[in-house]
Amino acid sequence: MAEFAPKKILVTGGCGFIGSRYVRMLISRDQAFEVVNLDLLTYSGNPENVAEVADNPRYTFIEGDIRDHETVWKAMAECDAVVHFAAEAQVDKSITGPEVFATTNVLGTQILLDEARAAGVDRFHYVSTDEVYGTLGQKGKFTEASPLLPNSPYSASKAGGDLLCRSYVETFGMHVTTTRCSNNYGSYPRMDNLIPVLIGKALADESLPLYGDGKQVRDWLYVEDHCNAIDAVLRKGTPGDVYNVGGNEERKNVDVAKLILKHLEKPESLISFVEDRPGHDRRYAIDASKIKKDLGWQPAQKFEKALEETVEWYRDHPEWVASAKQRMETKVA
Ligand SMILES: NC(=O)c1ccc[n+]([C@@H]2O[C@H](COP(=O)([O-])OP(=O)(O)OC[C@H]3O[C@@H](n4cnc5c(N)ncnc54)[C@H](O)[C@@H]3O)[C@@H](O)[C@H]2O)c1
Repeated sequence: MAEFAPKKILVTGGCGFIGSRYVRMLISRDQAFEVVNLDLLTYSGNPENVAEVADNPRYTFIEGDIRDHETVWKAMAECDAVVHFAAEAQVDKSITGPEVFATTNVLGTQILLDEARAAGVDRFHYVSTDEVYGTLGQKGKFTEASPLLPNSPYSASKAGGDLLCRSYVETFGMHVTTTRCSNNYGSYPRMDNLIPVLIGKALADESLPLYGDGKQVRDWLYVEDHCNAIDAVLRKGTPGDVYNVGGNEERKNVDVAKLILKHLEKPESLISFVEDRPGHDRRYAIDASKIKKDLGWQPAQKFEKALEETVEWYRDHPEWVASAKQRMETKVA
């Protein structure tokens, strides 16, 4: 199949952590396509994340809700591709307030699929998560054939989006692809993710809180590697296919905390253990051999080095950190 070359891409959630990296990456490439960013600017959407591309003539920002048909229809005008990041994406928030997760992650995805179908867009890519697979024991990895067994309202709502995407391929013959990715880290993070929380606490000499025994295992991937994987799937992916994306960098949460403290020359005694999260998944690990074999993608960054760079980025951007924290405190989802 010939490689797809987009002319105009609608990116949803392009002011968030991963979506903004994708938008900056697309615009920095010296290519002719346009990028439309549709984002509701919830507590985690920050216009400063895309400030460097805001004046580029190939970039348009629309503040709006993926749950609104008319907004989505207008944003999609003349687009030949949709890359869908927008979501409620924080597990703890999904435990205290699951409803917005269902409306944004399930209904919002269905509305986007419907409008993309009506508009006849050529490609629809859904950014999903390895959390849809549930949890693993000490051995084994998730493959694309693993059953969907989500354990939190967040992962259940993302799995709802996965299944809707599958159904639009089977029922309507749409060209939809899905990536299921492991935990991301990097610059412009969402401030309630594990790594930025730990960095912020360590820099302030405050205690670094870890759930339970801190031995939950996550497979970490640098955010730019994730965005390159999405781009490879958009251009070369097989319609209807799911691609696992992971860094092959499994670490216990407590070991991530220790690495951050070591880099900052702070004592491990700052680590504290707090009551575990209900339904907390023990281990995620991704088998990403399919995307490597079929599309030639593999991660470029190694965890320890890119984590150190992330810590340095955080330390070098106190103004961004302060404004992101303030947005989180003053805005509701
Ligand atoms: N962060 C990770 O480690 C990770 C890993 C795998 C997959 N993912 C997936 O990647 C995507 C992006 O995650 P993130 O960490 O960048 O999240 P994020 O919270 O930083 O970004 C989400 C963005 O979506 C926007 N948004 C929320 N509701 C909206 C709505 N109704 N209409 C329009 N925009 C809306 C927010 O304003 C924000 O800019 C999500 O779909 C998530 O499930 C994240």
